[in-house]
Amino acid sequence: MRCSLAGISYALLACSTTLAAPGWSHRWKRSKGLNDYAKKAGLLYFGTAADIPSSGENTDVAYQRILNNTHEFGQVTPANAMKWDATEPQQGDFTFGAAEQFLGFPTSNHQLVRCHNLVWHSQLPSWVTSGTWTNATLQAVLKSHITTLVQHFGTRCYAWDVLNEALNDNGTLRQDVWLNTIGPAYIPLVFQFAEEALKGVKGGRRIKFYYNDYGIENPGPKSAAALELVKGVKDRGIKIDGVGLQSHFIVGGTPSRETQVQNLQSFTAAGFDVALTELDVRFSNVSDLSVGGGLEQQSQDYENSVAACVDVKRCVGVTVWDFDDKYSWIPGTFPGQGFGDIWWANLTMKPAYDGVVAALTERD
Ligand SMILES: *[C@@H]1O[C@H](CO)[C@@H](O)[C@H](O)[C@H]1NC(C)=O
Ligand SMILES: *[C@@H]1O[C@H](CO)[C@@H](O)[C@H](O)[C@H]1NC(C)=O
Ligand SMILES: *[C@@H]1O[C@H](CO)[C@@H](O)[C@H](O)[C@H]1NC(C)=O
Ligand SMILES: *[C@@H]1O[C@H](CO)[C@@H](O)[C@H](O)[C@H]1NC(C)=O
Ligand SMILES: *[C@@H]1O[C@H](CO)[C@@H](O)[C@H](O)[C@H]1NC(C)=O
Repeated sequence: MRCSLAGISYALLACSTTLAAPGWSHRWKRSKGLNDYAKKAGLLYFGTAADIPSSGENTDVAYQRILNNTHEFGQVTPANAMKWDATEPQQGDFTFGAAEQFLGFPTSNHQLVRCHNLVWHSQLPSWVTSGTWTNATLQAVLKSHITTLVQHFGTRCYAWDVLNEALNDNGTLRQDVWLNTIGPAYIPLVFQFAEEALKGVKGGRRIKFYYNDYGIENPGPKSAAALELVKGVKDRGIKIDGVGLQSHFIVGGTPSRETQVQNLQSFTAAGFDVALTELDVRFSNVSDLSVGGGLEQQSQDYENSVAACVDVKRCVGVTVWDFDDKYSWIPGTFPGQGFGDIWWANLTMKPAYDGVVAALTERD
């Protein structure tokens, strides 16, 4: 049941009856939020990325009131603070100030943290990308970075994205410094290094290890390759727990609920947990929101995606890649596109917020 103040036209009668119904009070009193509904629907959390401390979020009190509200968010992901360029800007010189500032938020607010990420082709400092490496010296670099981060953050990480975006859209392995130097063997190795690091972490076995990628939300060559990748690690007896589906979608181009369910089940059937880790649904033309179907379609796309997670037993949670348009990564990466989040930049909720609530409360 949905009744939005933000402008989707529903019958007035339907709205006034639903107003009296339980579950609708959140529109008025905000006594419940997305994380409350997610837990009730059987998920572990509803979460968001946050770019603290490197963006304006760091001093934005109105933003932080929502971020800190565990009724809305039971999990947070550092958008940048744990990436390689932030944590090992010079070889062997580990800097955790930004990450610790970030972690102050979830620690005081009792939110789970999906730590992000250990190995990626992007946001690498130049000493990594322009270094002269042999197979052995680059493996030593990986081992040192992974061991140091896993042991430093310990069980403050509910999960780690151990490996991020190793695949091309056609399912082949991405050419980057890791593949070009170590070959495909780097993939099981990075998970092995992460597992070995847990020997130095009390209770560390409970930290979940993920492979995280985009464009794997539809059945197809990339999703199939991701499945082969994670199976290849698991078949070697190395710890890997789940697959993160980033889920950066476009209004009107989002895979259907059934398609997403079928795709998620291909991973869970092979023994992996799954999570939607970076969900947003952007408009392809910010000057014309009717392209793709408008706010109502965006709401439906959010609803379908979150409902697919609820439908799949081992889908543990959903994370949006920041919750309001003010701090969205989209316009900077896809010029002319945007408005992909569930709150407008002025922190009023979009119909998409109601789409998420609808997905999470369908079975109430
Ligand atoms: C959010 O929580 C952090 C960590 O406790 C705190 O420093 C910050 O002041 C809080 N922000 C607001 C607006 O309550
Ligand atoms: C797959 O995609 C990559 C990256 O775009 C490209 O370099 C490669 O040639 C493609 N391979 C095949 C078999 O199409
Ligand atoms: C790099 O070393 C690993 C063993 O540590 C090996 O499996 C892999 O094939 C080597 N890669 C290359 C490109 O020789
Ligand atoms: C976006 O929409 C505006 C307004 O309708 C239009 O003028 C413009 O050409 C569109 N841009 C693209 C890239 O389609
Ligand atoms: C917030 O921003 C949206 C989009 O620009 C606008 O439609 C809405 O009226 C604004 N709400 C308030 C309370 O300013």
